[in-house]
Amino acid sequence: MSRSLKYDIPGVDWRRSMADAYEFGIHSLFEPDYTAPFPLVVEIGFGRGEFLLELAAKSPDVAFFGVEVSWKRVLKMARKVARAELGNVRLVAGRGEAILQDCLPEQSVQEIWVNFSDPWPKAAHAHRRIFQPPFIHRAAQVLEPAGVLKIATDDPIYAVQIDEVLSGEPLLHNVHAPAPCIGEDPARIETSYEQDWRTEGRTIHFFDYVPQNVPQNVPRKAAGAASES
Ligand SMILES: C[S@@+](CC[C@H](N)C(=O)[O-])C[C@H]1O[C@@H](n2cnc3c(N)ncnc32)[C@H](O)[C@@H]1O
Repeated sequence: MSRSLKYDIPGVDWRRSMADAYEFGIHSLFEPDYTAPFPLVVEIGFGRGEFLLELAAKSPDVAFFGVEVSWKRVLKMARKVARAELGNVRLVAGRGEAILQDCLPEQSVQEIWVNFSDPWPKAAHAHRRIFQPPFIHRAAQVLEPAGVLKIATDDPIYAVQIDEVLSGEPLLHNVHAPAPCIGEDPARIETSYEQDWRTEGRTIHFFDYVPQNVPQNVPRKAAGAASES
């Protein structure tokens, strides 16, 4: 028997509606606690949410926006964010593609993270894969000039597709070129799926892309870097 969902939020409820995100934009969801311009980090498909929680706890001056298509995961995450008393997180139940397309201005996001998105391996479901050319193009547009798009997958076939879509986007530059991606990134926080896949001995593929027009000697520091101490 499945455990029953708990609906009460033990503290401030930082969930927001898709309608508010559409009408007012993501940045407004952080006002008046944060006043523009403020750094904004977006995670799409946060799942159990540990990654976003750790990022947000490490950088209280940064605004973290989590979008997740499963409303149950958003509910569970809202309980965790409230319990952790994190005021710099906002959550929306919805699709990352829609958020990028309609709720974020161009050059407004410092980092976009998509960790272990579903590969939808059946050909009939291929259209559900998030990494399609229009999505990547929009991600490139909403990134700040010194921003970064960070993608991880454990699926080798999906990794090839992701590489094709990313390398075909003229607005983006591959940080790891000429390699398509890297297999280890000790600076990253591990997500719960990553821990599962590593236990199974799978290879992980980490892609890091930056806007093409930025001089490549500009220092970039991801909020998702693991503790420096
Ligand atoms: C395999 S899980 C990975 C969860 C987490 N990122 C991790 O690494 O532990 C993929 C998550 O992405 C969510 N998801 C799938 N498609 C999405 C979309 N288009 N927009 C937002 N979330 C999505 C799923 O509901 C699921 O929670």
